[in-house]
Amino acid sequence: MLVQNTVDFVKETLANAESGHDWFHIERVWKVAKTLAKQENVNLLVVELAALLHDIADAKFHNNDEEIGQKIAAQFLRNQQVEEEIIAQVIYIIKHISFKGGKENPPEMTAELAIVQDADRLDAIGAIGIARAFNYGGFKNRQLYNPEISPDLQMDSAAYRKSEAPTLNHFYEKLLLLKDKMNTKSGKEMAEQRHAFMEQFLAQFYAEWEGLAMSSNQ
Ligand code: ADP
Ligand code: NI
Repeated sequence: MLVQNTVDFVKETLANAESGHDWFHIERVWKVAKTLAKQENVNLLVVELAALLHDIADAKFHNNDEEIGQKIAAQFLRNQQVEEEIIAQVIYIIKHISFKGGKENPPEMTAELAIVQDADRLDAIGAIGIARAFNYGGFKNRQLYNPEISPDLQMDSAAYRKSEAPTLNHFYEKLLLLKDKMNTKSGKEMAEQRHAFMEQFLAQFYAEWEGLAMSSNQ
C-alpha cells in the first residue's frame, strides 16, 4: 500500500545518505509527526507522505537546486497514482519545511505543514539534536567551540550555509531558537523538554571547558 511503498522508496533512496538525513532521521520525524497528528484535525495521509518524503533530496548535495526534492517526490507520487490534490499538499510542505536561517516564512501555514515542520524541528533539538549538530560539524571539520568566535544571529540563508563557525555557535544561531517557533501545542511541549536538556548540556560543557567541577544535580 501507498505508505509502505513510500517507506521502501525512501529507505532505498537514502541508503547512502549522510547520517543527519538518513532513513532513521526520516523514521523519527515520521513517528513524531504521527504522534502530533493525533492531537489535530488533519489529513493523516498528507502528514505521513510529507514526513517520509521531506528530505528525499537535499539541495546542499545537488548543486543547491532547491526544487530537486519536490521534483523527485512528485514524480514518485504520480507513479503511485496519488491524486493531484494530495500531491500538491505534500509538495507544498516539502517546499516550505526548511529553516534556512529562519527569516523566510511560508505564505500559508497549513495544519499538515505545521505538524511536519514541528516534527522535523524536534529532531534538531534535544539529545538527538546535539548528536546531529556535532556530527554535522565533524563532517564540515568545524571546531567544537571557540570562545573567541561569537554566534551571529543576523545571518541570511547564504551566510548560514557557508558559515564556518564552531558547532557550539549553531546552538545559539538555530537550535535554541526552535522551541519558540513551534507551531502546534503538543510540539511545543515536546520542544520545551528537549530544550531544557540542551541548556543542561551547555552548562555542563562550559563547566568542563573551564575545568570546573559541577554539582551533580545541576
Ligand atoms: P534541516 O534539514 O533540518 O533543514 P540542515 O540540513 O541545515 O537542517 O541540518 C541538518 C542537521 O545538521 C540538523 O540537526 C542541524 O542542526 C545540523 N546542522 C546544520 N547546520 C549546522 C551547523 N552549522 N553546525 C552544526 N550543525 C548543523
Ligand atoms: Ni529533516
